[in-house]
Amino acid sequence: MTTDVITATVAARRTLTPRVEEFTLLLPDDAPLQAWSAGSHLDVHLPGSPVTRQYSLCSPSSRNSYVIAVDRRVEQDGGRGGSEALHRAAVLGASVEVGEPRNHFPLTRALNYIFVAGGVGVTPMLSLAAEVERSGRPWQMLCLARTAEDMPYLAELQGKYGGKITFHGSSAGRLDLGAALADLPGGTAVYVCGPGTLADDIAGAVEDQPAVDVFVEQFTAPDLQDGTAMSFDVTLATSGETFTVAPDISLLDTLEGKGKVLASSCREGVCGTCEVGVVSGEVDHRDNVLTPEERSENESMMVCVSRCRSGRLVLDL
Ligand code: FES
Repeated sequence: MTTDVITATVAARRTLTPRVEEFTLLLPDDAPLQAWSAGSHLDVHLPGSPVTRQYSLCSPSSRNSYVIAVDRRVEQDGGRGGSEALHRAAVLGASVEVGEPRNHFPLTRALNYIFVAGGVGVTPMLSLAAEVERSGRPWQMLCLARTAEDMPYLAELQGKYGGKITFHGSSAGRLDLGAALADLPGGTAVYVCGPGTLADDIAGAVEDQPAVDVFVEQFTAPDLQDGTAMSFDVTLATSGETFTVAPDISLLDTLEGKGKVLASSCREGVCGTCEVGVVSGEVDHRDNVLTPEERSENESMMVCVSRCRSGRLVLDL
């Protein structure tokens, strides 16, 4: 793990919806709060598990605490029940290990912003919208959930921002995203976070608007079971050692199996911890961290999920 781990204490819990709880994690007195930028997430080390999950930070930095909101639904952590475990274990006074805030969903410069939040996907939008509001630039937020009672922070957002917040409940019927996002001004950035196919649906809804960019925060990495995994060779530039990565084994697992120690955290391509420099070879990027531009530069890769298209990779290891 590359980031320092700090033991925080659950100082407050608040029920936001029947399935979403807000947790205030108090840091010890001697642990300075890391400054974090809008869109950042926190690595949370699940109680009794070597695995971490990433949860967006919900509020501006306070002096000594972080606030996250966690949906016990399976979608928020890829269906492995980690969020449910956190709901059970993170009682008031419990200890929770957290990493340092990191940001794979930063605010980009744009002339106009649309934030689309599906359920608990609203969490990164809280800080992003607050920053845009401070800047004075125009923005709107579309909140989507089954009912208003299922939408975390909806009343607070409406109270604070009024008509900039629009809610649509799926229990009233499916929203026509094409109509809702029609004729956006050029230079609009659309930020999306939500479950299932929401990001794809939004991208499809604005695809005929070339001056509109879509930025996505996924709960989990894309489905990797595309049947295209093949074996390839990996060479470590420093030692010259070469290993073969089997089709059904990750590059990270292969290297660890050869005794190499690499930083890792989520092991599913969403946290960025296992990023390694690429010397040569064409990477088959399967993570949810690198931007399309970073992928095309082919200078680094997430070895927990990404693979190789060219038969051989040389890594800066
Ligand atoms: S360990 Fe999280 S992206 Fe690889």
